[in-house]
Amino acid sequence: MTLKRPSKNQPKTFEFNSSSLDAANTIVSRYPKDKQQSAVMALLYIAQRQNDNWIPLAAMKHIAKFLDMPYIKVYEVATFYTMYNLSPVGKYFVQVCTTTPCMIRGANKLVEACKEKISKKESELSDNKNCSWIEVECLGACVNAPMMQINDNYYEDLDKEKTLKILDKILNGETPKPGSYRGRVNNEPENNRKTLMDLKNA
Ligand code: FES
Repeated sequence: MTLKRPSKNQPKTFEFNSSSLDAANTIVSRYPKDKQQSAVMALLYIAQRQNDNWIPLAAMKHIAKFLDMPYIKVYEVATFYTMYNLSPVGKYFVQVCTTTPCMIRGANKLVEACKEKISKKESELSDNKNCSWIEVECLGACVNAPMMQINDNYYEDLDKEKTLKILDKILNGETPKPGSYRGRVNNEPENNRKTLMDLKNA
């Protein structure tokens, strides 16, 4: 599990831009007037997307004011949940699943590829500063293991060679095609096999 600490280099200020503000107001309006603090997780996520995938302390303070709640409560939420990044992660943020089903299908090879291509240690930026990687727990795509998430996309049915090619692309500023890298449609069986239909004595 990654150790998460707020970055030492913090911007002094943060404010929602107009599209983030619209999104935040829409979410807050869904809550009863005295329960609007419940929108804190969604607002942290909006701040993270606005700020290149990480949340500075100034954003937590901004959200605390926005929701009229103590800053420390926003800080508690931001530091508890793993989906919030508290330091810069790069424009391309690679999350490699290393939970058991992915691990027994070779997730360690994906980690090796990240170490070779991006940075030796997780959470460190690549030399060109546009990419970083971390290990994460199950991303809910175990049936297509091993897999990794890059920003909003899933890359599945991987091996080391395919992962290296994907990482080459993102390091060049390209967005590789997401989905299965063994040609499967979603998580359908390979070779058009229909489970239990073509097995005798199944
Ligand atoms: S174990 Fe990797 S996606 Fe579930």
